[in-house]
Amino acid sequence: MSDKELKELRDQINDLDNKIVDLIDLRSNIVTSIGKLKDKTKGVIDESREQEVLNRLIHLSKGKYSKDTIIRIWRELFEASSKLQLGNNSNILTKRSIESINVYKGGIAKIDGKNKIVKLSSNENPFGPSDKILSPLNHKFDLHRYPEISGITLRSELAKFHNINAEQIVLGCGSDENLLFAALSFCQPGDEIIHAHHGFEMYPIISKVVGAVSKLAKEENYKVSVQSICDQITPATKLIYIANPNNPTGSYLTKKDLRELISKVPNHIIVVIDGAYAEYVQEADYDCDFSLVKEFENVICTRTFSKVYGLAGIRLGWCYSSIKVANILNKVKGPFNTNSFAQHLAMIALKDQDHIKKVLNTNKENKIWFEKELERMKYKYIQSFANFVFIELTELKANNIASNLLENGIIIRQLNSYQLPHCLRITIGSLDDMKKIVSVLEKHK
Ligand SMILES: Cc1ncc(COP(=O)(O)O)c(C=O)c1O
Repeated sequence: MSDKELKELRDQINDLDNKIVDLIDLRSNIVTSIGKLKDKTKGVIDESREQEVLNRLIHLSKGKYSKDTIIRIWRELFEASSKLQLGNNSNILTKRSIESINVYKGGIAKIDGKNKIVKLSSNENPFGPSDKILSPLNHKFDLHRYPEISGITLRSELAKFHNINAEQIVLGCGSDENLLFAALSFCQPGDEIIHAHHGFEMYPIISKVVGAVSKLAKEENYKVSVQSICDQITPATKLIYIANPNNPTGSYLTKKDLRELISKVPNHIIVVIDGAYAEYVQEADYDCDFSLVKEFENVICTRTFSKVYGLAGIRLGWCYSSIKVANILNKVKGPFNTNSFAQHLAMIALKDQDHIKKVLNTNKENKIWFEKELERMKYKYIQSFANFVFIELTELKANNIASNLLENGIIIRQLNSYQLPHCLRITIGSLDDMKKIVSVLEKHK
């Protein structure tokens, strides 16, 4: 193409862009007028109206821009529109999605006036880590040196233990960070992320952080429905999060379910299978290895040292994916995101599988005992395959039990932040802890 031809085409683009700016100005005037009619105390965003506009535009668009591009452009306009309607003149402007984030609170960790508490609110491992990690606390680290840039020694140990490839492992500051890497790598403002309606609390937060829109998949009896995930897929879908087992419900999808789902999902959509509680599941139909990563280039499996390994405090998680995806995640990962101490302790914990067996057995025994007690007292619980139990009550009863337990120095989780205020999630603790809980539940049955 000659320079002259190129200039002519660019002039045409300039003319069109000028017209688009005029149209956007016209549109913003109408948007402002609509804003004056809205009751701002109820908020100005009408998601169903936005969806209606998007559906119409996707249907209409005949050009060569992809449908997800059309959706992204209009979501940008929606964001600008809501700012106009809110009359937001602040100098410090953020993404619309960030403003609506409810900061992650987690389970409470202290009770005023009580020194001795039983904390069963965050699904930590109450039995703690392997004793073997205590000796290296005195180990002399070269603390003036940066840690290994991507933790190759730990990654090699993980690879050996799980019979996988170290190059495909990416370490995270807790698996939370691995979940974030996935969204940062694959989602832009205006894209869509699918997760279960009552999936892990971080999924909607991460979606908002990257400016994506959460699409909620329905559950049947608190288990996410594969069909509902597929129904939520649109041209704007970039990522799907599935906690397997799920927090807070404890349900899981079988390997067959997962394979069926991933086979149906277009292969440009990243499917994150969050295995924070993977080690706890002992059912034969559970996907406990990493073979789905071999089969599907678009799958990321996450794991953590925070749960069964009893090392929530050191913040060490990791994920496994195809080499192509791992290379992308590594571009987003900060160079020294996990520290030398955490890498070292995780390695020692990994090697003490006898301790892991003990933790799993004790968790299983105490969970079975507790579930039997719940049945005896006629409490309704959903079978959980992790290290916690999910109980369904009325909101009033859930309130009363949670406060009564608190008075007794026991912290559990009433699931208000999961929009399940009528449900309680109780981490499995020692048998003594569980007996204390039963004695309180006894009074409320
Ligand atoms: C389902 C699920 N995924 C991920 C995490 C994050 O764990 P961490 O960042 O400690 O690895 C949690 C923590 O509770 C969780 O429940």
